[in-house]
Amino acid sequence: MISPITGMKDAFSLAGKNAVITGGNRGLGFGIARAMAECGANIAILCRDIRKAEEAVAELEQFGGKYDRFACDVTDRASVRKAVAEVEEAFGSIDILVNNAGVSCTKALLDMDEELTDWYKVVNTDLNGCVHMTYEVAKRMRDAGKGGCIINITSNAGFMVNHGQPMSPYSCAKAAMNHFTKCMAVELGEYDIRVNGIAPGFTNSELSVHIPPENMSYINTQTVAGRFGEPIEVGALAVYLASPAAAQVTGTVQVIDGGYMLRC
Ligand SMILES: NC(=O)c1ccc[n+]([C@@H]2O[C@H](COP(=O)([O-])OP(=O)(O)OC[C@H]3O[C@@H](n4cnc5c(N)ncnc54)[C@H](OP(=O)(O)O)[C@@H]3O)[C@@H](O)[C@H]2O)c1
Repeated sequence: MISPITGMKDAFSLAGKNAVITGGNRGLGFGIARAMAECGANIAILCRDIRKAEEAVAELEQFGGKYDRFACDVTDRASVRKAVAEVEEAFGSIDILVNNAGVSCTKALLDMDEELTDWYKVVNTDLNGCVHMTYEVAKRMRDAGKGGCIINITSNAGFMVNHGQPMSPYSCAKAAMNHFTKCMAVELGEYDIRVNGIAPGFTNSELSVHIPPENMSYINTQTVAGRFGEPIEVGALAVYLASPAAAQVTGTVQVIDGGYMLRC
C-alpha cells in the first residue's frame, strides 16, 4: 500500500527517483525529461537517435542529477531488453517509466500499401513499444519491491476521430494504450505500481509540424485555450502523476488539450 502525503512539503518532489523516458531526446519526451529533472529526478533517455540524446543529456546537466542515454528501438523486444538492463546497471533501479516514444501517420486505410506498412509501423511503435517497455521495467519494479509509477503518453486522438486528417492506426493504437493503462493499473497495483496515461492534444513538436497549414486555423479555433500546448506543460502533468501527491491516482488517463475535445 502506498502511504498518503500528510502535507504539501515535498509533495511534488521527485528527488532521487530514477526515471526512464522513451523518446526523451526531443519533443514531448524532452519536455517531460526536463520537468522531471528540475523536480529532482535522475533521467535515462531511451531512443534511436543517440546524437540528439547526447544534446538532451547535455541540456539536463544544469539540474545537477544523473543523466544518461541508451540506444533503444521500442519496436524490437531484444533492443528493449538490452537497454533496460543497461539502465538498471547504470542507475541501480527504476522508479518511473514514461512510455512516450511514438510515431503518427496521416493516411486513409485504403491509401496504404498491401502490406499495411503504415498500420504496423504505428501500432508496433506506439502500442507494442509501450507493452515491450512495460514488460521489462515492471518486472524489475516488482522484483525490487519498492513500487513504481508508469505513465503512458497517449493522445486525445484515442478518444475521437480527428477532423481533417485520417489517422486510424494512430487513434486505434492510442485508444488501446488508454485501455492497457487501466488493465495494468489493476494487474500491477498489488506491487504498488501506479499506472496512468496522459492524452495530450496538439502540442508543439516535430510531430506537429506535419499538420497541413489549412488545418491550423480550425485547430486553433477549436482549442478553447486558443493555442498549441508546450512540451513542458505535459512535463508538469507527468511530474504530478509521478509525485507522492498522486499516490491515490491510478488507472486514469488525463487529457491535456486546451479544451479541444469539448467542441467536437
Ligand atoms: N505533438 C503532439 O501534438 C502530440 C499530441 C498527442 C500525443 N503526442 C504523443 O507524444 C509522444 C511524443 O510525440 P512528439 O510530438 O514529441 O513527437 P516527436 O518530436 O516526433 O518525437 C517522437 C519521439 O519518439 C521516439 N521514437 C520514435 N520511434 C521510436 C522507436 N521505434 N524506438 C524508440 N524511440 C522512438 C523518437 O526518438 P528517435 O527518433 O531518436 O528514436 C522521438 O524522441 C508520442 O507518443 C505522440 O503520439 C504528441
